[in-house]
Amino acid sequence: MLSWDDEVTSAPRTPQASAQPQLQPAVPSSARAQPGLQPHDIALNPALVAKPSELAKEGAARRVNAADKRIINGQTDVNQLVPFKYKWAWDKYLAGCANHWMPQEINMQRDIELWKNPNGLTDDERRLVKRNLGFFVTADSLAANNIVLGTYRHITAPECRQYLLRQAFEEAIHTHAYQYIVESLGLDESEIFNAYNEVASIRDKDQFLIPFIDVLTNPEFKTGTIETDQTLLRSLIVFACLMEGLFFYVGFTQILALGRQNKMMGAAEQYQYILRDESMHCNFGIDLINTIKMENPHLWTPEFRDEIKALFFRAVELEYRYAEDTMPRGVLGLNAPMFKGYLRFIANRRAQQIGLDPMFGQEENPFPWMSEMIDLKKERNFFETRVIEYQTGGALNWE
Ligand SMILES: [Fe+2]
Ligand SMILES: [Fe+2]
Repeated sequence: MLSWDDEVTSAPRTPQASAQPQLQPAVPSSARAQPGLQPHDIALNPALVAKPSELAKEGAARRVNAADKRIINGQTDVNQLVPFKYKWAWDKYLAGCANHWMPQEINMQRDIELWKNPNGLTDDERRLVKRNLGFFVTADSLAANNIVLGTYRHITAPECRQYLLRQAFEEAIHTHAYQYIVESLGLDESEIFNAYNEVASIRDKDQFLIPFIDVLTNPEFKTGTIETDQTLLRSLIVFACLMEGLFFYVGFTQILALGRQNKMMGAAEQYQYILRDESMHCNFGIDLINTIKMENPHLWTPEFRDEIKALFFRAVELEYRYAEDTMPRGVLGLNAPMFKGYLRFIANRRAQQIGLDPMFGQEENPFPWMSEMIDLKKERNFFETRVIEYQTGGALNWE
């Protein structure tokens, strides 16, 4: 810790490239254009100092024209949110705010009683809950890191940045919700939070994702070439279509299936709100991807599309292994093979949403009730477990 007696040394300044437009000195552009001219020359020569009218003109030149905005590699000022060009992103930001919720709003008392009751749940159901949380407790931290440290700085449309800020907070709420369930049930925290290192089916999913996050969070990484723009696009597709759009779905279905059987209804309600948020994250990501494709059609080469398809196949395989590991036997009327059909159904849909052909033979949705869950309105409380007064995990009582 610093004390007042410590000598304070300033950190060395290193010049850094920035996507942000830099504020310019108050000199006319004619003077800035003169080679070899130093700032002190300008200060000493009144003829070189800008007149207010010239500055006003230059300031006006920096006003943003919506048509000039671009999702990536844009040159317009990212601090000027309006005029809007990408209204869909702003609308999703407003919808995300309208859906705001907090984990403590949901009563966990009945879940706690059920979990504590030795006959409340079967061993298979308990395994499912623990493996399920084992993936999710860290997944949303990965998602938040990806947005805050990676994606955000490469996106040059302020409307999209505004949504990403909202999304980042929602990822924090999701991590909070999973922590709240772990705490409420009195689970072994280090077992659950370290599952992504210890449980192979969870670790494999995360190891598939992490390189696509790391490449964006690398401070050296910059867009602006075909190769790097494709790298960003690839990571956005993996994140929206395969992580939020596929890797979350075995887990969501399992906990919501418990809720449909009147078990773990508090946890199920938390997951229901998370599912609604994630479905919007996924749709935002898909709109982002499709707009980048539209603005940069040269990135969508046949080789790139083949590469994306291979990633889809790999993700379906990993998520299916996770389904097998969480449900070694049938449980809750669900079994791993049913998820094979479901994952193929979802993967086909995600592929079509970004303009790829479906990859698997015609698959029916084996869980049509999941679609109803995604369409949840906040006023309608499916599980009817919501309490009016806020209650924290710490305040809940076993006896
Ligand atoms: Fe999330
Ligand atoms: Fe998300």
